[in-house]
Amino acid sequence: MQERPRNETTSLACSSTDEERPLSLKPVRGLCGSTTVPGDKSISHRALILGSLSSGVMKIRNLSPGEDVRSTWQCLGQLGVGIEPLDEEVRLEGKTHGPLKEPETFLDVGNSGTTIRLLAGLLSAQPMFSALTGDDSLRRRPMDRIVKPLRQMGAEIWGRENGRFAPLAIKGGRLSPIHYDSPIASAQVKTALLLAGLFLEGETSFAEPYLSRDHTERMLRYMGADVTCDQRTVRLRGGRPIEARDIEVPGDPSSAAFLVVGALITSRSELEIRDVCVNPTRIGYLTILDRMGASVELCNRREVCGEPVADLKVRSSRLKGTTLLPEEVPGCIDEIPVLCVAAAFAQGRTKITGAKELRVKESDRIAAMASNLTAMGVDVVERPDGLEIGGRGGVAAFQGRSWQDHRIALSLIVAALAAEGPSRVLGGDCMNISFPGFLERIAPLIEK
Ligand code: S3P
Repeated sequence: MQERPRNETTSLACSSTDEERPLSLKPVRGLCGSTTVPGDKSISHRALILGSLSSGVMKIRNLSPGEDVRSTWQCLGQLGVGIEPLDEEVRLEGKTHGPLKEPETFLDVGNSGTTIRLLAGLLSAQPMFSALTGDDSLRRRPMDRIVKPLRQMGAEIWGRENGRFAPLAIKGGRLSPIHYDSPIASAQVKTALLLAGLFLEGETSFAEPYLSRDHTERMLRYMGADVTCDQRTVRLRGGRPIEARDIEVPGDPSSAAFLVVGALITSRSELEIRDVCVNPTRIGYLTILDRMGASVELCNRREVCGEPVADLKVRSSRLKGTTLLPEEVPGCIDEIPVLCVAAAFAQGRTKITGAKELRVKESDRIAAMASNLTAMGVDVVERPDGLEIGGRGGVAAFQGRSWQDHRIALSLIVAALAAEGPSRVLGGDCMNISFPGFLERIAPLIEK
């Protein structure tokens, strides 16, 4: 059964590359052995940006190899920041508080919402003109969430539909610190404001309805900034340089989620994923999977450059359905597509509510998962702010479509590992946005 609310439009846009090079995938018995995942994408963006503003030279190890982080790197290069690749790390020369170089042309952020929103904050405080744009999907995503508070700080920003959509043009300059009560929990909005506030004397503060990922706060503190956090409010006293300090980027928990669910839903898995960031604002999906009956152990807990890190041990598990509450959504926002796959392999119903943010991600992820689950023969109801999935312990062989969204592509590949027959994924190449080499990484772990 599929019920689509009448007045709800879905924004699935399909590119012709969807039909090119479909991935053909066969089911496997399990994922076994020990592996790692690429460096965390969110922390990598922040390491490059904060490093660019620091007062010295620093090295970043294990930077995310994904295309989104490449976009941030390229844009910072256009702004005059020297970032040099070394063997396993990059060397970066901070510009203290500037001046950054006025870019000669558009800064192209590609598919990366994090790059455009974070850089918009930084550029609002720079006394120069800059313009930001990105790919088709990026230009459909809402920018008013950062434009509004940055304008309140005094920034001059223009964009299509009065700043709702990119391209954005920014004439930065003297801003004033503000307190902003955000109507949505968003680490991108929070970071945009903090990056602007870093240049200002006085206190910039940000409050949100639920705590979103707190990597910016942690990294600012690690680099010596005057930042304090109290539940859902962060306060920054800017106007002084941050210190250059080497950063080791831990494994991306969002990328690990695909391996975790892959191991849980296949019948003979025993998998270790080493050096994963286990920041509490990022591993909400583990709490939800635990409720569903998953066997995932966190071992060897430690702290690396201000972030908690651990090794995950995952075993095949019989899962049961659960209800995700709205307050749980920010802690697992990027993992909901793969949690939908776990729900399809569970017994019983899973309800996801309060997740309408999913409609404005790289694709409309509610619509994308509803159509793909339907293709898998799963009983799914699409709601304006979530999904209801009737798990029956497995899915049929299917042909799924990524909608050019990396997290949808990776979720489909994971579902195909345990489907009832060979499956096909159209538009799978976009997995390179966050997890290049995913198939190569799982190949040695596969139990046939
Ligand atoms: C991110 C924040 C989240 C997340 C995105 C990365 C970040 O977006 O979905 O993939 O690095 O700050 P929102 O801030 O829109 O919730």
